Amino acid sequence: MKPVYYENGELKLIDQTKLPTTFIIHSYTDYREIATAITDMIVRGAPAIGVTAGYGVYFGALEYKDEPKDIFYDKMKEVCALLASTRPTAVNLFWAIKRMEAVIEANKDKDPTRLVEILKDEANAICSEDIQMCRDMGKHGAELIHYGDTILTHCNAGALATADYGTALGVIRAAHEAGKNISVYADETRPFLQGARLTAYELQADGIPVTLITDNMAGWMMKQGKIDGVVVGADRIASNGDVANKIGTYSVAVLAKAHGIPMYVAAPTSTIDFAMKSGDEIVIEERDCREISHIGGIQIAPDGVAMENPAFDVTPHQNITAIITEKGVVYPPYDINIPKLKDEI
Ligand code: MRU
Repeated sequence: MKPVYYENGELKLIDQTKLPTTFIIHSYTDYREIATAITDMIVRGAPAIGVTAGYGVYFGALEYKDEPKDIFYDKMKEVCALLASTRPTAVNLFWAIKRMEAVIEANKDKDPTRLVEILKDEANAICSEDIQMCRDMGKHGAELIHYGDTILTHCNAGALATADYGTALGVIRAAHEAGKNISVYADETRPFLQGARLTAYELQADGIPVTLITDNMAGWMMKQGKIDGVVVGADRIASNGDVANKIGTYSVAVLAKAHGIPMYVAAPTSTIDFAMKSGDEIVIEERDCREISHIGGIQIAPDGVAMENPAFDVTPHQNITAIITEKGVVYPPYDINIPKLKDEI
């Protein structure tokens, strides 16, 4: 299940706002429309957003490649700024744009018509590396899962949130493929329902036993001993191990700690913001409150009621048992062990 890929001169995105009832793939060649697709969450999930932004930069370069060099570089600044303005929390977006900008900078001596081809190669590389990182993460993470475990996950950190295979669901997939006989509880993940719409859909399609619960059921499932471990993804990890992920992850982490259940975060090193000292600095996206007041287009809250809709929260590193990356499993003390990862990238 590839939510983002390049084919025959077009960027293809599975429309994740329509799943699971309708499966549509949209085609893009305009970087402005690609930016809108990120903002509107047609594509979502930190690594998938990064991959999409990489292609967005390429399509911007393709549009402006015949301009005089100075205009081309000015336009590319505009392209990158637009793509960077789409969503603030997932660092993979900025990581991918910076990587594309570095390619532009390193090839300034070349004609834009040649540079555009190099940018296409880079966007393709970001995409294929993401798949490999997910596979490697899966291998490392599966070792932490025991035979017969039931795993709770929150939001969708699956193939649909990456270029393929997934981060948290990559670990779950790898454990399943290793014959560990695992099963999964998927939080529905209010208000955007990525758990109900995407995780349940993805796991069901793969034949991995999944039970959907509402977010407020997780604690009770833990109390009854029905959950052996939690595995979630991440949108940004600070260098002290604080983790920004979908709103509700913090509550799950607190519950896991209270019940003595391991809380694992699976994320590629592209999700680590090495420059950020702690999660206090992470910008949390605030989204339209209509996501709360309405479900499936039907109003469920009174007109005019006050609402808040933070899309992410930050789980303090003290609540996280281990962070699974493509380079291996990282344990506390995170402020020492995360910076060490930088040398391995
Ligand atoms: O708002 P979304 O759907 O983009 O949020 C996605 C998440 O929070 C995921 O858990 C995170 O990006 C990890 S995805 C591999």
